[in-house]
Order: sequence, then structure tokens, then C-alpha cells
Amino acid sequence: MKKMNHHLMLCLFSCLFFISHAHSTSTSSTSSGQFCSPDQSSALLQPRQEFVKGMPSDYYNGSYPKMMSWKADTDCCSWNGVTCDTKNGQVIGLNLRNSHLYGPLNSNSSLFSLRHLQKLNLGFNNFSSSTIPSEFGQLVNLTHLNLSHSVFSGQIPPFISNLSQLTHLSLSSNNFHGQLPSFFGNLTQLEELDISRNQLKGSIPFEISTLSHLSNLYLSCNSLTGAIPSFLFTMHSLLKLDPSQNQLTGPLKFQNISSSLLCYLSLSRNNLNEQVPKSIANLTGLEYLLLSSINVKGKMELNMFFKLRELRFLDLSGNNLLISKEYINSTLPKFSKLWLSSCNLREFPDFLEAQNELIYLDLSNNSIEGKIPKWYWNVGKETLQSLNLSINLLSNFEQPLKVLPWKNMVYLDLCANMLQGPLPIPPLSTRYFFAASNNLTGRISPMICKANSLQILELSNNQLIGKIPQRLGNFSSSLLVLNMRNNCFKEICLKHS
Ligand SMILES: *[C@@H]1O[C@H](CO)[C@@H](O)[C@H](O)[C@H]1NC(C)=O
Ligand SMILES: *[C@@H]1O[C@H](CO)[C@@H](O)[C@H](O)[C@H]1NC(C)=O
Ligand SMILES: *[C@@H]1O[C@H](CO)[C@@H](O)[C@H](O)[C@H]1NC(C)=O
Ligand SMILES: *[C@@H]1O[C@H](CO)[C@@H](O)[C@H](O)[C@H]1NC(C)=O
Ligand SMILES: *[C@@H]1O[C@H](CO)[C@@H](O)[C@H](O)[C@H]1NC(C)=O
Ligand SMILES: *[C@@H]1O[C@H](CO)[C@@H](O)[C@H](O)[C@H]1NC(C)=O
Ligand SMILES: *[C@@H]1O[C@H](CO)[C@@H](O)[C@H](O)[C@H]1NC(C)=O
Ligand SMILES: *[C@@H]1O[C@H](CO)[C@@H](O)[C@H](O)[C@H]1NC(C)=O
Ligand SMILES: *[C@@H]1O[C@H](CO)[C@@H](O)[C@H](O)[C@H]1NC(C)=O
Ligand SMILES: *[C@@H]1O[C@H](CO)[C@@H](O)[C@H](O)[C@H]1NC(C)=O
Ligand SMILES: *[C@@H]1O[C@H](CO)[C@@H](O)[C@H](O)[C@H]1NC(C)=O
Ligand SMILES: *[C@@H]1O[C@H](CO)[C@@H](O)[C@H](O)[C@H]1NC(C)=O
Repeated sequence: MKKMNHHLMLCLFSCLFFISHAHSTSTSSTSSGQFCSPDQSSALLQPRQEFVKGMPSDYYNGSYPKMMSWKADTDCCSWNGVTCDTKNGQVIGLNLRNSHLYGPLNSNSSLFSLRHLQKLNLGFNNFSSSTIPSEFGQLVNLTHLNLSHSVFSGQIPPFISNLSQLTHLSLSSNNFHGQLPSFFGNLTQLEELDISRNQLKGSIPFEISTLSHLSNLYLSCNSLTGAIPSFLFTMHSLLKLDPSQNQLTGPLKFQNISSSLLCYLSLSRNNLNEQVPKSIANLTGLEYLLLSSINVKGKMELNMFFKLRELRFLDLSGNNLLISKEYINSTLPKFSKLWLSSCNLREFPDFLEAQNELIYLDLSNNSIEGKIPKWYWNVGKETLQSLNLSINLLSNFEQPLKVLPWKNMVYLDLCANMLQGPLPIPPLSTRYFFAASNNLTGRISPMICKANSLQILELSNNQLIGKIPQRLGNFSSSLLVLNMRNNCFKEICLKHS
């Protein structure tokens, strides 16, 4: 029990850390009464001319040319985005995230004379496919460097490893190519490394395993190859690991894991070509496990994940699943979100019956046939907000209800089944309701008028008849989309407010 709480606390702590971190990098802290030295001031003003050239204002939503508000005759320590050392007025932090910077970043940029910088955020700008100038290697006191989403290209240069104080490095969402460099292993202080969404190749280098402070490693959406290395699972500091959407292969090895704190693991969209071994249960701290479309050999056994008691988020979509009835209700993890889409399921998985904390459930695109069983109404009865049963072979309800249960439902998708009989009325809290492409018949119950949160009502391709209840007009202020095509309505009374 103690140990479980410990894991939970760490997970929570890391999440809180990100929130507070994101917050602190997006607002500028300024020190009152500190005057920046003139050299710092001019080093800041030069890039204003270099980069701010009136970009289209909708380049990124919420972007704002911070530098335009900088006035030469004022204390640069008070400028938006600038942080100074209170002792000597040296610029130690510069946050120009999403600031309309536009044009190549040249090696003669005066930014590189801000030698005292500890935090530099240039994310969400457009440096026109520049490579990273080697002058970055001189900013040796940097602890935080963020160049994400900024139209950089070329290889990740080795002098990055000169920045030995770096704890947070983000190079994500650029066009970096070449091998995933091994010299990241020299950045011994790293806590977060994000190189996701580039075009990096090669295998995950062993040197990464020496980073003893690394807690978040994001490698997703590249072209990495080779086996998913087992050393990643024995790194004691790692909390989040995301090498999803690459071409990584098996075998997965989870032996010798003495104390894993890993709470987030996504291997989705890789090419495992093997089974996921049962020893995955050794990753006892996992709260998020995302394994969609990993191309396992044969069937994947769902029940092996039930040993992960902390698990709340599980994505097994796009894998051929085997679900056995051998489990003990009282020891199942309490899931919050479950993705079991395209898993070749033929019936409603029984273990769902005891899931009373479920918020999100996706069972779409399976081959679940026949009636929706009575017990199913109790799945996440108090908690479920999103339910997707579309693209199955459901015919009707074992126990029809006038209004479907689930008090907190927001999104309900029943499209593309073979549902017969009258249109089931969604829970009254529902905002998005899809029941198109079924075999629904008869008149729509006036009860639908009570669902006054509806924004989308998609009922096309059924055989509904009669007229749309008059009072549907009552919620037409929230209703944005109403699709009734290919039904047999005589009259449409929808009022448009
Ligand atoms: C900006 O916001 C609009 C409306 O909110 C949205 O349609 C558009 O996709 C957004 N653009 C970007 C680049 O995020
Ligand atoms: C910096 O270098 C670029 C290209 O190398 C050049 O076009 C520009 O004039 C230089 N700027 C200054 C201030 O020297
Ligand atoms: C870098 O940090 C060290 C240690 O905090 C300090 O002694 C040194 O003056 C800093 N260098 C610069 C250029 O700020
Ligand atoms: C960045 O600027 C270049 C022109 O230098 C332009 O072609 C490109 O579309 C821009 N990239 C983005 C993401 O806006
Ligand atoms: C690496 O850092 C040292 C100072 O520690 C500096 O003298 C050198 O120029 C830097 N190398 C590069 C390539 O920037
Ligand atoms: C990384 O560190 C090793 C050992 O200290 C050194 O030999 C190597 O040159 C360094 N790599 C880079 C790119 O700085
Ligand atoms: C880098 O900036 C992006 C965009 O602002 C942000 O999402 C990300 O968390 C930042 N990463 C780091 C390591 O600061
Ligand atoms: C586990 O540890 C033992 C002893 O340290 C070692 O012989 C074995 O190769 C390790 N197995 C794996 C899969 O790392
Ligand atoms: C890991 O899992 C395997 C197979 O489930 C088991 O034999 C082994 O004892 C476990 N090791 C640790 C350290 O948990
Ligand atoms: C449905 O699942 C099949 C495999 O069972 C897959 O080929 C197809 O792409 C999936 N369709 C959708 C819409 O997800
Ligand atoms: C699990 O619990 C449900 C009631 O929540 C019960 O109907 C079902 O039989 C139980 N299943 C097992 C395998 O214990
Ligand atoms: C729709 O239901 C009717 C009877 O309720 C049945 O005769 C018909 O075959 C069904 N159509 C489809 C496409 O399932």
C-alpha cells in the first residue's frame, strides 16, 4: 500500500511539475529595480530587427510579437519575456515562444552574446529551415533550451553536448534528420529530452541509459529502427517514455526491473512483430500504457495487463485481442480510459461490468454482434462521458430504455450498426450523438427535446418517419449540426433561432 502511494505521488508530482513548468516558461518574470547592463540591452535589440518582420498574424494562434514592445530607453530587465539575475542585471532568461520570429538564425546573431542565459525558449517561431548555429555551444550555462516547432532543419549538431548544464531540452517538431545522436549521453544533467516529430533515424543509443536524472524521454514520430532496448526499462529515474510512431521492433524485455517508477509508456504504432511478454507486469508503476497498432504476432492477451494495479489508461486498439474470463473482479485495475477499437472483439468484454470509474470507452470497429446486454447499462454509470460503439453488428437492446443511462455522457456514437426499433434517446447531458447508418424505425420520441445540450444530432441513413418533434426547436440554439438525410420525414419543423 505504502509503495503504491509512493508511485502515485511521483506520478502526480511529475504532472504538477509540468504544469508549473509550462506556466513559468510562458509568463515572463521580471525583477523590479534591476537595470540591465547596456551590452545585454543591445544584444536583445539587434534580434528584434533581425526577426520581427511582420509575419502574418495568424501564423500560430495566440502568437504575439513580444519584441515589438521592447523600448530601447527602458530597463531591459522589465521587458516582456526577459528575466535578469537580480544581483548583477545579467539576462539569464529569454522566453520568445510564439513571438513572430521569422527568418534564418545566423551565427552572427547577437542572441549568442547573451552568455549568461540559463533558460532560452524560442519555440513556435519560424527560423526558415536554419540549422542550429554552432554558437549555441557557447551558452554553456543553459539549463533549459526549447527550440520546438520552429522550422529548424539539418542534423542535431554535436556541440549541443557542450551544454553540460542542460536539464530540459526540446527539439521537437522540426525537420531534424540523420541519426539519433549518442552524444545526448554527455548531457548528464538531463531530466527531460524531447526530440519527437522529426525525421531521425537509427536505433536508440545505449548512451541514453547513462542519464541518471532523465525522467521524461519523448522520441515519438521519427523513423527510429531496431529493437526497443531493454535498458530503457531499467532506468531508475524514468517516469515517462514515449517512443511511439517509429519502426521499432521486438523483442520487448522486462526482466531485471527491480524498481521501475515508469508511469507513462507509449509504444503505439511500432512494428513489434512479436508478443508482448507477460513480464510487462514488472512495470508496476504504470498508469498509462498505450500499445495501439504495434503489430503483435498472433493474439494479444488482455488479461496480462490486469496485474498492473495502478493502470488507468490503456490503449490496445488495432491489435488482435484475446480476452479470457479468468480474472478476479476485486483485483482489476480501475480504468479511466480504455481504447479497444479494431481489436476483433465479438462480444462485450465481461470485465467491463465491474468498471465503475470509466470515463472513456472506445469499442468501435469490432464485430460485436447481437443485443446490447442489460448489464452494460451499469458500466461507468456515474462516470462515463464518452462511449463509442460504432462499426459493430449490434442489433438492439436486451432491455430497452426510453432514455439511455449514464448521467455524465457527452459523446455517444452508435453509428454503423444494425440497430432496429425506435431511436434510443441519449442521456440528457449528451452533446454529440451519432446514430447514423442503422436500421432505426418509427417516430422520434418527443423525449429528445429534453436533451437540450445537444450540439450534433446525426441520424442519417435510417428509416425514421413522421416529423421531427416540434420542440426540437427549443434547443436549436445549441444544436449546430442536424443530419436527417435518407429518412422519411414528411415535415421538418426545426426552428432556427
Ligand atoms: C487557429 O484557431 C482556429 C479557430 O480557433 C482554428 O480553426 C485553426 O486551426 C487554428 N490554427 C492553428 C495553426 O492552430
Ligand atoms: C549576419 O550574417 C548574415 C548571413 O551570413 C548576413 O546576411 C547578415 O548581414 C549578417 N548580419 C550582421 C549584423 O552582421
Ligand atoms: C555560469 O555558471 C557558473 C556557476 O553558476 C558561474 O560561475 C559563471 O559565472 C556562469 N557563467 C556565465 C557566463 O554566466
Ligand atoms: C516558414 O517560413 C517559410 C518561408 O521562409 C515558409 O515557406 C514556411 O511555410 C513557413 N513555415 C511555417 C510552418 O509556417
Ligand atoms: C564549448 O564550451 C567551451 C567552454 O566550456 C567553449 O570555450 C567552447 O567554445 C564551446 N564549444 C563550442 C563548439 O561552442
Ligand atoms: C562525450 O563524452 C565523451 C567522454 O567524456 C567524449 O569522449 C566525447 O567526445 C563527448 N562527445 C561529444 C560530442 O562531446
Ligand atoms: C517547449 O515548448 C513547447 C511549446 O511551448 C512546450 O510544449 C514544451 O513543454 C516545452 N518543452 C520544454 C522541455 O520546456
Ligand atoms: C539480468 O541480470 C542477470 C544478472 O545480473 C544477467 O545475467 C542477465 O543477463 C540479465 N538479464 C537481462 C534480460 O538483462
Ligand atoms: C519479471 O517478470 C518475470 C516473468 O513474469 C518474472 O519471472 C520475474 O521474476 C520478474 N522480475 C522482477 C524483477 O520483477
Ligand atoms: C477497422 O478494423 C480493421 C481491422 O480489423 C482495419 O483494417 C480498419 O482499418 C479499421 N477501420 C477503421 C475505420 O478503424
Ligand atoms: C464481476 O462483478 C460483477 C458485478 O459487478 C458480477 O456480475 C460478475 O459476475 C463478476 N465477475 C467475476 C468473474 O467475478
Ligand atoms: C431493417 O429492419 C427490418 C425489420 O425491422 C428488416 O426487414 C430489414 O431487413 C432490416 N434492414 C437491414 C438493412 O438490416
